Amino acid sequence: MCGIVGCILKENKDVAPILFNCISKLEYRGYDSVGMATFNGEINVKKAEGDIETVDSALNFRNMKGYFGIAHTRWASTGKPTDENAHPHLDETGTVAVVHNGTLENYSYIKEELIKEGHEFKSTTDTEVIPNLIKKYMDNGLDLENAVRKATEKLKGSYAIVVFAKDEPDKLVATRMNSPLIVSYGKEGYFVASDTPAVLEYARNVVRPKEGEIAILTKKGIEIHDANGKKVPWRSEYIDWTPEMAQKEGYDHFMIKEIIEQSTAVRNTLGQKANIKKVIEEIGDVKRICFVACGTSYHASISGKYLIESLAGIPIDVIIASEAKYTAKTWDEDTLVVFISQSGETYDSRMALKQARKTSKTLAIVNVAGSAMSEEAEFVIQTQAGPEIGVAATKTYVAQLTAIYLFAGLLAGDDDLINQLYKVPTYIDEVTSQREYIKELSSRYDFADDAFYLGRGFSYPIALEGALKLKEITYIHAEGYAAGELKHGPLALIDEKVPVFVIIPPGEDYDKTMTNLEEVKARDAIILSVGAEGDEKIAKNSRMVFEINPAVKDIIAPLVYIVPLQLISYYVTLDKGYNPDKPRNLAKVITV
Ligand code: AGP
Repeated sequence: MCGIVGCILKENKDVAPILFNCISKLEYRGYDSVGMATFNGEINVKKAEGDIETVDSALNFRNMKGYFGIAHTRWASTGKPTDENAHPHLDETGTVAVVHNGTLENYSYIKEELIKEGHEFKSTTDTEVIPNLIKKYMDNGLDLENAVRKATEKLKGSYAIVVFAKDEPDKLVATRMNSPLIVSYGKEGYFVASDTPAVLEYARNVVRPKEGEIAILTKKGIEIHDANGKKVPWRSEYIDWTPEMAQKEGYDHFMIKEIIEQSTAVRNTLGQKANIKKVIEEIGDVKRICFVACGTSYHASISGKYLIESLAGIPIDVIIASEAKYTAKTWDEDTLVVFISQSGETYDSRMALKQARKTSKTLAIVNVAGSAMSEEAEFVIQTQAGPEIGVAATKTYVAQLTAIYLFAGLLAGDDDLINQLYKVPTYIDEVTSQREYIKELSSRYDFADDAFYLGRGFSYPIALEGALKLKEITYIHAEGYAAGELKHGPLALIDEKVPVFVIIPPGEDYDKTMTNLEEVKARDAIILSVGAEGDEKIAKNSRMVFEINPAVKDIIAPLVYIVPLQLISYYVTLDKGYNPDKPRNLAKVITV
């Protein structure tokens, strides 16, 4: 998703090197174009399609002049990734500059209106209507703040914008609706950005403007105004994520660093036990729980379903957030709707959360403190994975699972389960310590066009998540299946060219999964099993095996068995020559 940054320095020195550094920290969100605008009497703009390094070596962002400016990484949604569509966008007179994250649902109507009034457009983006609207209102006599307010009143959809204008210089004006935006301050000056990693190096005191509020940044400080222009008091929180936490620290990629950090993510999230207990007490009795999430967070939710249904006997639904509106009709005051999201900003989940608040108790399990969903849900549990930069979720996933396991264990009063969780970090470290071996195993898979992942019961969501990791970073088509479902169709696709990953921990589903393993073996599939150390039956029936030591049982498997699958995807990606941190077409935070 697009990343936005704005900065105004306290002193009259050039802001460009700082802005450039900040926008580079948002690369992880996914982007296809980059641009910057600064002001030194005139608005200077440099922007182009391409990655930050390439565009910078052609345009040299860092020599731009002026003590304030805005920067943007664009992830194309409306209009192709082209130089012209890259942000910042100016109005047709070149006097109002805007960066925008989000999508405007009604931009084509506004554009038509503006064209009728004689305005001209250069790009095919939705964003370009914003500077033109602002300029129009400024020409009608409004100051910049009120012109921004009036312009945003016309917009439908999602936006976080930062604006400056030649006719009212020396200030940045920012606002948001359904898109994330933080304001922060440090020694050098005042910042606005779509996410904290952008500014951590310079400013760790973060203010989170509410939707519709307008932030005004000058070299003297920050003001936040409400929808009526009234000054509102703001409170800042200190972000204890260090800038180093968002660096590679000697690893080749964020993804491998984050896979290795999973034991710490679990350990730190276990530290939330007392908070989770309190949340459960405050929630009180519920008759039904409905998990709502997307992607990897959806897979964590399925683990939650298996766990809570088997331990606490509470009926659970798991809904993909973008499909939630149908189930939402059945939510009532006895339903707890649980939203799982690493970013806490996912648009589809947020829209479902808005809906759920009208009828039910809501709980958000998020990794980013102060994120939109943590503000909007009634109850919050914060996972403690630290910043995750790789687009493919890894450590945030095991942290989500840890929070869900604690929640389920505490809900059901199952001390045995909770005690087992404290051993998980060691199990994870044992797997990651074998990464050279996993690398070797992975080198045999880069040929594949398709792959299947099979698991039953607690291992079914592992299969789904294993397949997602493979497809999103290696671009190999992969499907996760409930092992018993294979014979109802997909078995037709299995032959001697297809890798099948079988997740088969010890436990009550073992024998049935073994039957499924034998079914694919009979079709000569290339089987790689993940099972308990020393399991000879698995070894005999599989082409390759990754052994989990010690032999954790199925109920704990989701927290451990996923790790070799993440590592396999990582190494296959490297063999194919792709960058695992930045898969094509994907973004870390999906705010549209
Ligand atoms: C995971 O690897 C993906 N990048 C993606 O599926 C992600 O889990 C999904 O977009 C949900 O994001 P969230 O957890 O921030 O809501």
